[in-house]
Amino acid sequence: MQTALSFSPLAHLETELLAVTAIDTQTAKGADAKPEPVLLTSDEAVRAAAAAVLSTGEFKAGANETLLLHAPAGLKAKRLLIVGLGKKSKATVHAVRNAAGTAVRYTKPRAIRELVFALPENYSEGSLHAVATSRAAAEGAIVGDFDPDTYRSERKDVSVHSFTLAAPPDADPAAIQTAFNTGVIIGESQNFARTLVNEPGNKLTPTVFGERAAKMATEVGLKSEVYSTDKLHELKMGAFWSVSQGSEEPPALIVLRYEPEGVTEGPVLGLVGKGITFDTGGISIKPADNMEKMKYDMAGGAAMVGAMRAIALLKPRVRVIGIVCSAENMPDGKAQKPGDVQTAMSGKTIEIINTDAEGRLVLADGLTYARSLGATHLIDAATLTGACVVALGMINAGAFSNDDATIEKFQTGLATSGEKFWRLPLSDEYYDMIRSDIGDIKNTGGRWGGAITAAEFLHAFAEDTPWIHLDIAGLAWIEDKKPFIAKGPSGVAVRSILEWVRSYEEK
Ligand code: BES
Ligand code: MN
Ligand code: ZN
Repeated sequence: MQTALSFSPLAHLETELLAVTAIDTQTAKGADAKPEPVLLTSDEAVRAAAAAVLSTGEFKAGANETLLLHAPAGLKAKRLLIVGLGKKSKATVHAVRNAAGTAVRYTKPRAIRELVFALPENYSEGSLHAVATSRAAAEGAIVGDFDPDTYRSERKDVSVHSFTLAAPPDADPAAIQTAFNTGVIIGESQNFARTLVNEPGNKLTPTVFGERAAKMATEVGLKSEVYSTDKLHELKMGAFWSVSQGSEEPPALIVLRYEPEGVTEGPVLGLVGKGITFDTGGISIKPADNMEKMKYDMAGGAAMVGAMRAIALLKPRVRVIGIVCSAENMPDGKAQKPGDVQTAMSGKTIEIINTDAEGRLVLADGLTYARSLGATHLIDAATLTGACVVALGMINAGAFSNDDATIEKFQTGLATSGEKFWRLPLSDEYYDMIRSDIGDIKNTGGRWGGAITAAEFLHAFAEDTPWIHLDIAGLAWIEDKKPFIAKGPSGVAVRSILEWVRSYEEK
Protein backbone atom coordinates (compact mmCIF):
# COMPACT_ATOMS: atom_id res chain seq x y z
CA MET A 1 0.00 0.00 0.00
CA GLN A 2 1.38 3.36 -1.04
CA THR A 3 1.03 6.10 1.53
CA ALA A 4 1.05 9.87 1.13
CA LEU A 5 0.24 13.02 3.02
CA SER A 6 -1.83 15.95 1.76
CA PHE A 7 -2.49 19.43 3.11
CA SER A 8 -5.03 20.43 0.46
CA PRO A 9 -8.57 21.50 1.34
CA LEU A 10 -10.77 18.39 1.46
CA ALA A 11 -13.26 19.66 -1.09
CA HIS A 12 -10.48 19.86 -3.71
CA LEU A 13 -9.30 16.29 -3.34
CA GLU A 14 -9.96 14.16 -6.37
CA THR A 15 -10.32 10.69 -4.97
CA GLU A 16 -12.46 7.57 -5.16
CA LEU A 17 -13.28 7.90 -1.48
CA LEU A 18 -12.83 10.61 1.10
CA ALA A 19 -13.22 9.44 4.70
CA VAL A 20 -13.95 11.91 7.48
CA THR A 21 -14.53 11.27 11.17
CA ALA A 22 -17.40 12.19 13.42
CA ILE A 23 -18.10 12.00 17.13
CA ASP A 24 -21.26 11.22 19.01
CA THR A 25 -22.14 14.23 21.16
CA GLN A 26 -25.52 13.02 22.28
CA THR A 27 -26.18 13.73 25.94
CA ALA A 28 -29.95 13.30 26.12
CA LYS A 29 -31.07 9.82 27.15
CA GLY A 30 -34.26 7.92 26.53
CA ALA A 31 -36.17 6.54 23.58
CA ASP A 32 -36.80 9.87 21.86
CA ALA A 33 -33.24 11.16 22.18
CA LYS A 34 -31.90 11.86 18.74
CA PRO A 35 -28.28 11.06 17.78
CA GLU A 36 -26.09 14.13 17.54
CA PRO A 37 -23.15 13.28 15.32
CA VAL A 38 -20.63 16.06 14.74
CA LEU A 39 -18.15 15.97 11.89
CA LEU A 40 -14.56 16.64 12.93
CA THR A 41 -13.70 18.88 10.05
CA SER A 42 -13.90 22.60 9.50
CA ASP A 43 -14.23 22.12 5.75
CA GLU A 44 -17.50 23.85 4.91
CA ALA A 45 -18.06 21.91 1.70
CA VAL A 46 -17.77 18.56 3.50
CA ARG A 47 -20.03 19.74 6.29
CA ALA A 48 -22.60 20.90 3.76
CA ALA A 49 -22.45 17.64 1.82
CA ALA A 50 -23.10 15.61 4.96
CA ALA A 51 -25.56 17.93 6.69
CA ALA A 52 -28.79 16.44 5.37
CA VAL A 53 -28.00 12.83 6.13
CA LEU A 54 -26.57 13.64 9.55
CA SER A 55 -29.74 15.48 10.48
CA THR A 56 -31.87 12.38 9.86
CA GLY A 57 -30.62 10.61 12.96
CA GLU A 58 -29.73 7.49 10.95
CA PHE A 59 -26.09 7.73 11.88
CA LYS A 60 -24.93 7.91 15.47
CA ALA A 61 -21.15 8.20 14.96
CA GLY A 62 -20.64 5.17 17.21
CA ALA A 63 -17.10 3.79 17.23
CA ASN A 64 -16.29 2.44 13.76
CA GLU A 65 -19.84 2.97 12.53
CA THR A 66 -19.79 3.95 8.84
CA LEU A 67 -22.04 5.88 6.49
CA LEU A 68 -21.39 6.22 2.77
CA LEU A 69 -22.55 9.00 0.45
CA HIS A 70 -22.13 8.74 -3.31
CA ALA A 71 -21.41 11.79 -5.45
CA PRO A 72 -21.33 14.20 -2.51
CA ALA A 73 -22.41 17.67 -3.63
CA GLY A 74 -19.67 20.28 -3.85
CA LEU A 75 -16.78 17.80 -3.45
CA LYS A 76 -14.39 16.44 -6.03
CA ALA A 77 -14.36 13.09 -4.22
CA LYS A 78 -16.59 10.41 -5.74
CA ARG A 79 -17.64 9.09 -2.35
CA LEU A 80 -17.78 10.48 1.15
CA LEU A 81 -17.42 7.97 3.98
CA ILE A 82 -18.16 9.10 7.51
CA VAL A 83 -16.51 7.01 10.20
CA GLY A 84 -17.61 7.29 13.81
CA LEU A 85 -15.14 7.72 16.64
CA GLY A 86 -17.78 7.03 19.27
CA LYS A 87 -18.76 9.14 22.24
CA LYS A 88 -16.90 12.42 22.47
CA SER A 89 -15.20 11.34 25.72
CA LYS A 90 -13.88 8.16 24.07
CA ALA A 91 -12.73 9.75 20.83
CA THR A 92 -9.05 9.29 21.60
CA VAL A 93 -6.05 8.84 19.36
CA HIS A 94 -6.73 5.09 19.61
CA ALA A 95 -10.22 5.61 18.23
CA VAL A 96 -8.62 7.46 15.30
CA ARG A 97 -6.21 4.53 14.70
CA ASN A 98 -9.19 2.20 14.52
CA ALA A 99 -11.22 4.59 12.36
CA ALA A 100 -8.45 4.70 9.76
CA GLY A 101 -8.39 0.90 9.79
CA THR A 102 -12.16 0.85 9.44
CA ALA A 103 -11.99 3.18 6.43
CA VAL A 104 -9.45 0.92 4.74
CA ARG A 105 -11.41 -2.23 5.52
CA TYR A 106 -14.56 -0.58 4.22
CA THR A 107 -12.81 0.27 0.98
CA LYS A 108 -10.97 -3.01 0.37
CA PRO A 109 -13.75 -5.52 -0.41
CA ARG A 110 -15.53 -2.97 -2.60
CA ALA A 111 -12.65 -2.97 -5.05
CA ILE A 112 -11.97 0.69 -4.39
CA ARG A 113 -8.23 0.92 -4.60
CA GLU A 114 -7.55 4.35 -3.28
CA LEU A 115 -8.77 6.57 -0.46
CA VAL A 116 -8.08 9.73 1.47
CA PHE A 117 -8.58 9.78 5.24
CA ALA A 118 -9.03 13.21 6.74
CA LEU A 119 -7.44 13.66 10.14
CA PRO A 120 -9.93 14.85 12.69
CA GLU A 121 -9.49 18.49 13.50
CA ASN A 122 -9.27 19.62 17.08
CA TYR A 123 -12.59 20.25 18.62
CA SER A 124 -13.15 22.39 21.67
CA GLU A 125 -13.44 19.74 24.36
CA GLY A 126 -11.22 17.15 22.76
CA SER A 127 -7.52 16.50 22.64
CA LEU A 128 -6.92 15.02 19.23
CA HIS A 129 -3.53 16.35 18.32
CA ALA A 130 -2.66 16.22 14.67
CA VAL A 131 0.81 14.82 15.30
CA ALA A 132 -0.30 11.88 17.44
CA THR A 133 -3.29 11.14 15.25
CA SER A 134 -1.35 11.20 11.98
CA ARG A 135 0.95 8.51 13.31
CA ALA A 136 -1.95 6.48 14.68
CA ALA A 137 -3.94 6.81 11.46
CA ALA A 138 -0.99 5.53 9.42
CA GLU A 139 -0.65 2.55 11.76
CA GLY A 140 -4.37 1.82 11.65
CA ALA A 141 -4.62 2.08 7.87
CA ILE A 142 -1.72 -0.30 7.27
CA VAL A 143 -2.89 -2.77 9.89
CA GLY A 144 -6.37 -2.58 8.35
CA ASP A 145 -5.02 -3.47 4.91
CA PHE A 146 -3.81 -6.90 6.08
CA ASP A 147 -5.80 -10.05 5.36
CA PRO A 148 -4.68 -13.57 6.25
CA ASP A 149 -5.93 -15.45 3.15
CA THR A 150 -2.42 -15.89 1.73
CA TYR A 151 -3.01 -19.39 0.36
CA ARG A 152 -6.45 -18.90 -1.18
CA SER A 153 -6.23 -19.87 -4.88
CA GLU A 154 -8.53 -17.18 -6.24
CA ARG A 155 -6.96 -14.52 -4.08
CA LYS A 156 -7.32 -11.37 -6.15
CA ASP A 157 -5.22 -8.31 -5.78
CA VAL A 158 -7.29 -7.12 -2.85
CA SER A 159 -4.92 -4.66 -1.28
CA VAL A 160 -5.71 -0.97 -1.21
CA HIS A 161 -3.15 0.63 -3.52
CA SER A 162 -2.96 4.06 -2.08
CA PHE A 163 -3.79 5.64 1.26
CA THR A 164 -3.53 9.39 1.61
CA LEU A 165 -3.82 11.15 4.92
CA ALA A 166 -5.26 14.64 4.67
CA ALA A 167 -3.96 16.85 7.45
CA PRO A 168 -5.65 20.09 8.45
CA PRO A 169 -4.17 23.02 6.47
CA ASP A 170 -2.95 24.74 9.63
CA ALA A 171 -0.97 21.71 10.91
CA ASP A 172 2.84 21.80 11.17
CA PRO A 173 3.87 19.95 7.97
CA ALA A 174 7.28 18.75 9.17
CA ALA A 175 5.98 17.37 12.46
CA ILE A 176 3.04 15.69 10.76
CA GLN A 177 5.27 14.17 8.10
CA THR A 178 7.66 12.69 10.69
CA ALA A 179 4.81 11.27 12.73
CA PHE A 180 3.16 9.85 9.63
CA ASN A 181 6.39 8.20 8.46
CA THR A 182 6.84 6.72 11.93
CA GLY A 183 3.32 5.32 11.82
CA VAL A 184 3.96 3.75 8.41
CA ILE A 185 7.08 1.99 9.69
CA ILE A 186 5.30 0.75 12.78
CA GLY A 187 2.24 -0.46 10.87
CA GLU A 188 4.39 -2.28 8.33
CA SER A 189 6.49 -3.85 11.08
CA GLN A 190 3.38 -5.05 12.86
CA ASN A 191 2.15 -6.55 9.58
CA PHE A 192 5.55 -8.16 9.05
CA ALA A 193 5.06 -9.94 12.39
CA ARG A 194 1.49 -10.88 11.42
CA THR A 195 2.65 -12.38 8.13
CA LEU A 196 5.05 -14.64 10.01
CA VAL A 197 2.44 -15.65 12.60
CA ASN A 198 -0.05 -16.43 9.85
CA GLU A 199 2.23 -19.00 8.20
CA PRO A 200 1.32 -22.61 8.92
CA GLY A 201 3.76 -24.92 10.67
CA ASN A 202 4.68 -26.77 7.49
CA LYS A 203 5.65 -23.54 5.72
CA LEU A 204 7.33 -21.71 8.57
CA THR A 205 9.68 -24.16 10.23
CA PRO A 206 12.33 -22.83 12.62
CA THR A 207 14.80 -22.82 9.72
CA VAL A 208 12.47 -20.80 7.51
CA PHE A 209 11.71 -18.44 10.41
CA GLY A 210 15.46 -17.84 10.68
CA GLU A 211 15.73 -17.21 6.93
CA ARG A 212 12.87 -14.76 6.94
CA ALA A 213 14.31 -12.86 9.91
CA ALA A 214 17.78 -12.75 8.34
CA LYS A 215 16.38 -11.50 5.02
CA MET A 216 14.52 -8.72 6.79
CA ALA A 217 17.67 -7.89 8.78
CA THR A 218 19.68 -7.44 5.59
CA GLU A 219 16.97 -5.22 4.11
CA VAL A 220 16.86 -2.85 7.08
CA GLY A 221 20.53 -2.94 8.04
CA LEU A 222 20.53 -5.13 11.15
CA LYS A 223 23.27 -7.63 11.91
CA SER A 224 21.92 -11.15 12.07
CA GLU A 225 23.11 -14.60 13.01
CA VAL A 226 21.01 -17.74 12.76
CA TYR A 227 22.30 -20.79 14.60
CA SER A 228 21.02 -24.32 14.97
CA THR A 229 21.68 -27.61 16.78
CA ASP A 230 25.47 -27.34 17.04
CA LYS A 231 25.33 -23.92 18.62
CA LEU A 232 22.71 -25.04 21.12
CA HIS A 233 25.03 -27.86 22.18
CA GLU A 234 28.05 -25.56 22.27
CA LEU A 235 26.22 -23.09 24.51
CA LYS A 236 24.87 -25.97 26.62
CA MET A 237 21.30 -24.85 26.00
CA GLY A 238 19.86 -28.03 27.45
CA ALA A 239 16.43 -26.51 28.07
CA PHE A 240 15.99 -25.13 24.55
CA TRP A 241 17.36 -28.31 22.97
CA SER A 242 15.05 -30.54 25.03
CA VAL A 243 12.05 -29.07 23.19
CA SER A 244 13.66 -29.42 19.82
CA GLN A 245 14.97 -32.96 20.23
CA GLY A 246 11.69 -34.65 19.34
CA SER A 247 11.36 -32.94 15.97
CA GLU A 248 12.81 -33.70 12.55
CA GLU A 249 13.07 -29.95 12.10
CA PRO A 250 16.25 -28.46 13.53
CA PRO A 251 15.88 -25.53 15.93
CA ALA A 252 16.86 -21.96 15.10
CA LEU A 253 18.51 -19.54 17.47
CA ILE A 254 17.96 -16.19 15.80
CA VAL A 255 20.06 -13.23 16.90
CA LEU A 256 19.45 -9.73 15.53
CA ARG A 257 21.62 -6.83 16.62
CA TYR A 258 20.90 -3.14 16.43
CA GLU A 259 24.01 -1.11 17.24
CA PRO A 260 23.56 2.59 16.53
CA GLU A 261 26.78 4.30 15.60
CA GLY A 262 28.52 6.07 18.44
CA VAL A 263 26.43 4.49 21.19
CA THR A 264 28.89 2.51 23.29
CA GLU A 265 27.51 3.22 26.72
CA GLY A 266 24.19 2.96 28.47
CA PRO A 267 21.71 0.13 28.47
CA VAL A 268 21.68 -2.87 26.17
CA LEU A 269 18.11 -4.06 25.73
CA GLY A 270 17.56 -7.78 25.23
CA LEU A 271 14.36 -8.78 23.43
CA VAL A 272 13.65 -12.50 23.73
CA GLY A 273 10.80 -14.22 21.88
CA LYS A 274 9.21 -17.65 22.05
CA GLY A 275 9.32 -19.10 18.55
CA ILE A 276 7.54 -22.46 18.71
CA THR A 277 6.52 -22.90 15.07
CA PHE A 278 4.13 -25.65 16.09
CA ASP A 279 3.18 -26.83 19.56
CA THR A 280 1.64 -30.32 19.64
CA GLY A 281 2.39 -30.47 23.36
CA GLY A 282 5.00 -33.17 22.73
CA ILE A 283 4.57 -36.43 24.67
CA SER A 284 2.09 -34.59 26.93
CA ILE A 285 0.15 -34.20 23.72
CA LYS A 286 -2.65 -31.68 23.32
CA PRO A 287 -6.23 -32.67 22.44
CA ALA A 288 -7.03 -32.52 18.70
CA ASP A 289 -9.63 -29.77 19.08
CA ASN A 290 -8.09 -26.43 18.16
CA MET A 291 -4.61 -27.88 17.91
CA GLU A 292 -4.27 -26.23 14.48
CA LYS A 293 -4.13 -22.91 16.32
CA MET A 294 -0.78 -23.84 17.73
CA LYS A 295 0.94 -22.61 14.58
CA TYR A 296 0.79 -19.20 16.23
CA ASP A 297 2.94 -20.32 19.13
CA MET A 298 5.79 -18.33 17.61
CA ALA A 299 3.91 -15.01 17.92
CA GLY A 300 6.22 -13.77 20.70
CA GLY A 301 9.22 -14.41 18.47
CA ALA A 302 7.50 -12.73 15.54
CA ALA A 303 6.73 -9.70 17.74
CA MET A 304 10.43 -9.40 18.55
CA VAL A 305 11.40 -9.66 14.89
CA GLY A 306 8.74 -7.08 13.98
CA ALA A 307 9.92 -4.75 16.74
CA MET A 308 13.56 -5.14 15.58
CA ARG A 309 12.48 -4.13 12.08
CA ALA A 310 10.82 -0.97 13.40
CA ILE A 311 13.85 -0.24 15.59
CA ALA A 312 16.23 -0.57 12.65
CA LEU A 313 14.17 1.90 10.62
CA LEU A 314 13.36 4.39 13.39
CA LYS A 315 16.92 4.34 14.75
CA PRO A 316 16.58 5.07 18.48
CA ARG A 317 19.89 5.90 20.23
CA VAL A 318 20.05 2.69 22.29
CA ARG A 319 21.58 -0.72 21.66
CA VAL A 320 19.17 -3.63 21.21
CA ILE A 321 19.66 -7.38 20.80
CA GLY A 322 16.75 -9.46 19.55
CA ILE A 323 16.76 -13.19 20.22
CA VAL A 324 14.24 -15.76 19.05
CA CYS A 325 14.35 -19.32 20.29
CA SER A 326 12.58 -21.29 17.62
CA ALA A 327 11.71 -24.99 17.69
CA GLU A 328 8.90 -27.38 16.89
CA ASN A 329 7.39 -29.23 19.87
CA MET A 330 6.68 -32.78 18.66
CA PRO A 331 6.12 -36.26 20.13
CA ASP A 332 8.65 -38.78 18.84
CA GLY A 333 10.86 -41.67 19.88
CA LYS A 334 13.51 -39.08 20.63
CA ALA A 335 11.19 -36.58 22.29
CA GLN A 336 11.72 -35.66 25.91
CA LYS A 337 9.44 -37.30 28.47
CA PRO A 338 7.78 -36.20 31.66
CA GLY A 339 10.22 -36.93 34.47
CA ASP A 340 13.29 -36.16 32.38
CA VAL A 341 15.78 -33.76 33.92
CA GLN A 342 17.43 -31.14 31.72
CA THR A 343 20.32 -28.83 32.47
CA ALA A 344 19.77 -25.29 31.27
CA MET A 345 22.50 -23.00 29.93
CA SER A 346 22.60 -21.24 33.32
CA GLY A 347 23.41 -24.56 35.00
CA LYS A 348 20.03 -24.90 36.70
CA THR A 349 18.45 -28.34 36.46
CA ILE A 350 14.85 -28.60 35.32
CA GLU A 351 12.50 -31.47 36.01
CA ILE A 352 10.10 -31.86 33.11
CA ILE A 353 6.61 -32.43 34.48
CA ASN A 354 4.71 -31.62 31.32
CA THR A 355 6.32 -31.46 27.88
CA ASP A 356 3.60 -29.03 26.84
CA ALA A 357 5.13 -26.38 29.10
CA GLU A 358 7.84 -25.93 26.47
CA GLY A 359 7.80 -22.18 25.94
CA ARG A 360 9.43 -21.46 29.29
CA LEU A 361 12.14 -24.01 28.46
CA VAL A 362 13.24 -22.31 25.26
CA LEU A 363 12.94 -18.88 26.87
CA ALA A 364 15.00 -19.92 29.90
CA ASP A 365 18.03 -20.37 27.68
CA GLY A 366 17.12 -17.36 25.56
CA LEU A 367 17.15 -15.13 28.64
CA THR A 368 20.44 -16.59 29.87
CA TYR A 369 21.94 -16.10 26.43
CA ALA A 370 20.74 -12.48 26.21
CA ARG A 371 22.41 -11.77 29.56
CA SER A 372 25.61 -13.46 28.39
CA LEU A 373 25.61 -11.14 25.34
CA GLY A 374 25.51 -8.15 27.66
CA ALA A 375 21.82 -7.31 27.93
CA THR A 376 21.25 -5.03 30.91
CA HIS A 377 17.44 -5.02 30.59
CA LEU A 378 15.28 -7.83 29.31
CA ILE A 379 11.83 -8.16 27.82
CA ASP A 380 10.33 -11.41 26.63
CA ALA A 381 7.12 -12.10 24.77
CA ALA A 382 5.44 -15.47 24.51
CA THR A 383 2.15 -17.22 23.91
CA LEU A 384 3.00 -18.89 27.18
CA THR A 385 -0.07 -20.03 29.08
CA GLY A 386 -3.73 -20.82 28.67
CA ALA A 387 -3.98 -19.74 32.32
CA CYS A 388 -3.24 -16.16 31.32
CA VAL A 389 -6.17 -16.29 28.89
CA VAL A 390 -8.38 -17.63 31.67
CA ALA A 391 -7.30 -14.77 33.94
CA LEU A 392 -7.49 -11.84 31.55
CA GLY A 393 -9.57 -13.07 28.63
CA MET A 394 -8.76 -11.83 25.18
CA ILE A 395 -8.80 -8.19 26.24
CA ASN A 396 -5.57 -7.69 28.18
CA ALA A 397 -2.31 -9.53 27.77
CA GLY A 398 -0.35 -10.33 30.93
CA ALA A 399 2.74 -8.40 32.00
CA PHE A 400 5.14 -9.39 34.80
CA SER A 401 8.31 -7.84 36.09
CA ASN A 402 10.97 -8.06 38.77
CA ASP A 403 11.53 -4.31 38.64
CA ASP A 404 8.94 -1.56 39.10
CA ALA A 405 10.91 1.15 37.28
CA THR A 406 11.37 -1.07 34.23
CA ILE A 407 7.73 -2.05 33.89
CA GLU A 408 6.59 1.50 34.56
CA LYS A 409 8.43 2.56 31.42
CA PHE A 410 6.59 -0.17 29.55
CA GLN A 411 3.25 0.88 31.02
CA THR A 412 3.85 4.52 30.09
CA GLY A 413 4.35 3.46 26.48
CA LEU A 414 0.93 1.81 26.38
CA ALA A 415 -0.67 5.26 26.17
CA THR A 416 1.07 5.61 22.81
CA SER A 417 0.84 2.03 21.53
CA GLY A 418 -2.82 1.69 22.49
CA GLU A 419 -2.28 -1.96 23.46
CA LYS A 420 -3.64 -3.43 26.67
CA PHE A 421 -1.36 -5.22 29.11
CA TRP A 422 -2.23 -5.85 32.75
CA ARG A 423 0.44 -6.41 35.36
CA LEU A 424 0.13 -9.62 37.38
CA PRO A 425 2.13 -10.33 40.53
CA LEU A 426 5.27 -12.34 41.18
CA SER A 427 6.45 -13.52 44.58
CA ASP A 428 8.51 -16.15 46.34
CA GLU A 429 5.41 -18.12 47.32
CA TYR A 430 4.71 -18.73 43.65
CA TYR A 431 8.30 -19.76 43.11
CA ASP A 432 7.88 -22.30 45.91
CA MET A 433 5.20 -23.96 43.76
CA ILE A 434 7.79 -24.89 41.13
CA ARG A 435 10.56 -26.26 43.33
CA SER A 436 11.57 -29.74 42.23
CA ASP A 437 12.26 -32.72 44.48
CA ILE A 438 14.89 -34.14 42.16
CA GLY A 439 16.42 -30.95 40.75
CA ASP A 440 16.31 -27.16 41.04
CA ILE A 441 13.04 -26.31 39.39
CA LYS A 442 10.15 -28.02 37.65
CA ASN A 443 8.51 -26.79 34.50
CA THR A 444 4.94 -26.64 35.78
CA GLY A 445 3.40 -25.71 39.09
CA GLY A 446 -0.07 -27.15 38.65
CA ARG A 447 -3.27 -25.49 37.65
CA TRP A 448 -3.59 -22.61 40.08
CA GLY A 449 -1.85 -19.42 39.20
CA GLY A 450 -0.50 -21.05 36.05
CA ALA A 451 0.42 -17.79 34.32
CA ILE A 452 2.31 -16.63 37.40
CA THR A 453 4.23 -19.83 38.07
CA ALA A 454 5.26 -19.79 34.40
CA ALA A 455 6.51 -16.23 34.89
CA GLU A 456 8.34 -17.27 38.09
CA PHE A 457 10.05 -19.99 36.07
CA LEU A 458 11.38 -17.34 33.67
CA HIS A 459 12.27 -15.10 36.61
CA ALA A 460 14.66 -17.81 37.79
CA PHE A 461 16.63 -17.30 34.56
CA ALA A 462 16.32 -13.52 34.29
CA GLU A 463 17.53 -13.50 37.92
CA ASP A 464 18.20 -9.94 39.06
CA THR A 465 18.48 -8.37 35.61
CA PRO A 466 15.56 -5.94 35.23
CA TRP A 467 13.08 -7.92 33.18
CA ILE A 468 9.56 -7.84 31.79
CA HIS A 469 7.63 -10.90 30.69
CA LEU A 470 4.65 -10.52 28.34
CA ASP A 471 2.19 -13.39 28.10
CA ILE A 472 0.32 -12.77 24.84
CA ALA A 473 -1.45 -16.15 24.55
CA GLY A 474 -4.90 -14.53 24.55
CA LEU A 475 -4.18 -11.71 22.14
CA ALA A 476 -1.85 -13.05 19.48
CA TRP A 477 -4.75 -14.42 17.43
CA ILE A 478 -7.97 -12.48 16.88
CA GLU A 479 -10.92 -14.89 16.93
CA ASP A 480 -13.58 -12.49 15.66
CA LYS A 481 -12.99 -9.91 12.97
CA LYS A 482 -13.45 -6.27 13.86
CA PRO A 483 -14.29 -3.36 11.54
CA PHE A 484 -10.63 -2.23 11.67
CA ILE A 485 -8.69 -5.50 11.78
CA ALA A 486 -9.06 -8.91 10.20
CA LYS A 487 -9.57 -12.13 12.09
CA GLY A 488 -6.23 -13.90 12.51
CA PRO A 489 -2.79 -12.85 13.66
CA SER A 490 -2.83 -9.55 15.55
CA GLY A 491 0.82 -8.54 15.73
CA VAL A 492 0.24 -7.67 19.38
CA ALA A 493 3.22 -6.39 21.40
CA VAL A 494 5.23 -5.03 18.44
CA ARG A 495 4.11 -1.47 19.14
CA SER A 496 4.46 -1.67 22.92
CA ILE A 497 7.90 -3.28 22.83
CA LEU A 498 9.00 -0.55 20.44
CA GLU A 499 7.75 2.19 22.78
CA TRP A 500 9.57 0.56 25.67
CA VAL A 501 12.78 0.50 23.64
CA ARG A 502 12.33 4.15 22.66
CA SER A 503 11.93 5.07 26.35
CA TYR A 504 15.61 4.16 26.86
CA GLU A 505 16.81 6.43 24.11
CA GLU A 506 19.84 8.49 24.98
CA LYS A 507 18.41 11.99 25.28
N1 BES B 1 1.46 -22.57 23.69
C1 BES B 1 0.81 -22.96 24.87
C2 BES B 1 -0.01 -21.86 25.52
C3 BES B 1 -1.19 -21.34 24.75
C4 BES B 1 -2.45 -21.72 25.07
C5 BES B 1 -1.02 -20.40 23.76
C6 BES B 1 -3.52 -21.20 24.40
C7 BES B 1 -2.10 -19.87 23.08
C8 BES B 1 -3.35 -20.28 23.41
C9 BES B 1 1.83 -23.43 25.90
O1 BES B 1 2.98 -24.00 25.39
C10 BES B 1 1.17 -24.46 26.72
O2 BES B 1 0.87 -25.49 26.19
N2 BES B 1 0.97 -24.16 27.99
C11 BES B 1 0.33 -25.05 28.87
C12 BES B 1 1.14 -25.10 30.14
C13 BES B 1 0.73 -26.19 31.07
C14 BES B 1 1.12 -27.53 30.49
C15 BES B 1 1.42 -25.97 32.38
C16 BES B 1 -1.07 -24.53 29.14
O3 BES B 1 -1.26 -23.33 29.22
O4 BES B 1 -1.98 -25.34 29.22
MN1 MN C 1 2.79 -26.07 25.01
ZN1 ZN D 1 3.51 -23.42 23.50
